[in-house]
Amino acid sequence: MLKLAVFVSGRGSNLKAILNSPNLKELIDVKAVISNKIDCPAFKIAREYSIGTYCLGKDDNCIAYNELSNFLVSLEIDLVVLAGFLKMIPSDMVRTFKNRIINIHPALLPSFGGEGMYGMNVHKAVFNSSAQVSGASVHFVDESYDTGKIIAQKCVDISDVETPEEIAGRVLIVEHKLLPYVLEKFARNKIIIGKNRIRIIN
Ligand code: GRF
Repeated sequence: MLKLAVFVSGRGSNLKAILNSPNLKELIDVKAVISNKIDCPAFKIAREYSIGTYCLGKDDNCIAYNELSNFLVSLEIDLVVLAGFLKMIPSDMVRTFKNRIINIHPALLPSFGGEGMYGMNVHKAVFNSSAQVSGASVHFVDESYDTGKIIAQKCVDISDVETPEEIAGRVLIVEHKLLPYVLEKFARNKIIIGKNRIRIIN
């Protein structure tokens, strides 16, 4: 089983999609759900599945950022999944977990990524750009925002939308399929890391 730590900041719908995915039942084991927000709504979902929840930060009972890497090593985590986590991952953790941290981004990278590009900011930027497609990207995490190698993308037609909220709704449906798909491929060792390109094999 692939041992996962899932990092969240918000409602946790991607976490739920992972936990509910029938294809992942026998393949993944979510060992920890971690957030910088002590009252993160996604924690409720984790608790419903009896998964340990951990806060990050300086408060008592929270894991300090400089202890994060060791903590994940102690849990024998194979893969870290950022599902709506908004903070930068510490450099030492990026090094320790090289090619073992992935993020889901609600647009087609390398466009509409970078600092400040999260949540509705992304969808508003896509809407204002007049783009007729958007989608979701799963990528490796490196030491800056949204620049790691792209693992998988799925696009969605937005040619007829009238609001950024409509884009958000369509993209979220795609996210909930793409992330479980990628995790299944990791669990089955079907992700091939090439020099300039990540390949997924059948
Ligand atoms: C998703 O749109 C994800 O792509 C982005 O943050 C959002 C998190 O949503 N990184 P949820 O908390 O999984 O519902």
